[in-house]
Amino acid sequence: MNSNTLSVTQALKQRTSIRAYQSKPVPEALVREVLDAARWSPSGGNLQPWKVIVVSGAAQQAVISKAKNYPGMFPNEDADKPVYPANLWEPYRSRRFKVGEDMYELLGVPRENKVGRLTQLARNFEFFGAPVGMFFVIDTRMGHGQWAHLGMFMQSLALAATERGLSTCFQEFWGTLRTTLKTHFALGENELIYSGMALGYADESAKVNTLRTERASVDEFTTFHFD
Ligand SMILES: Cc1cc2nc3c(=O)[nH]c(=O)nc-3n(C[C@H](O)[C@H](O)[C@H](O)COP(=O)(O)O)c2cc1C
Repeated sequence: MNSNTLSVTQALKQRTSIRAYQSKPVPEALVREVLDAARWSPSGGNLQPWKVIVVSGAAQQAVISKAKNYPGMFPNEDADKPVYPANLWEPYRSRRFKVGEDMYELLGVPRENKVGRLTQLARNFEFFGAPVGMFFVIDTRMGHGQWAHLGMFMQSLALAATERGLSTCFQEFWGTLRTTLKTHFALGENELIYSGMALGYADESAKVNTLRTERASVDEFTTFHFD
């Protein structure tokens, strides 16, 4: 390992969701390199149940304008596969609430400022200014296992990006536009866009990027049977 290379643990800790980017472009070759590392992710039966769409430049702008020109307020094309289960229970409900409140506090957008909060939410549809956007596609005939394996691929990708000084933000929010995107990208009958991702160089001066989320301790989610 050369001294500039992050260890896996360092990359795990350094990766955070970045929601403001420099306009500095990310060369296609670098994106390919990140994907080339992530493809070594494991999957049950080695199915490799992932497909990726990468957009930059005019292709990215086309997607952004699809989202921006969507009739009405926000799209709702994820109704059959909502991001969270209904009536989220504890401790998940509080965790979700906390990350939202912490982020809006950093941005100085209080609860009452509904417009301000919706404006920030809408930044998802600009990939938060990142010069590269990605979409993760899964075949709807796949089962829960393959969804999990897609998730492993996504994390590998984020870590490989981190190793190269790039930042990311997964964006399931793009799922709200998945029917429109399916047509836009001429996806197959059974293909579904699970999540998007922003990829680029972090704007280090942006306050929103100082958000650090918490995690439960090992003992809160692990039962050890060692005797
Ligand atoms: C699959 C997935 C989808 C996500 N979708 C969004 C999203 O649409 N918009 C957003 O701002 N953050 C999104 N996030 C980021 C989470 O809020 C974030 O990972 C979590 O709060 C932990 O913070 P950290 O990534 O900074 O460690 C998503 C994360 C994952 C794993």
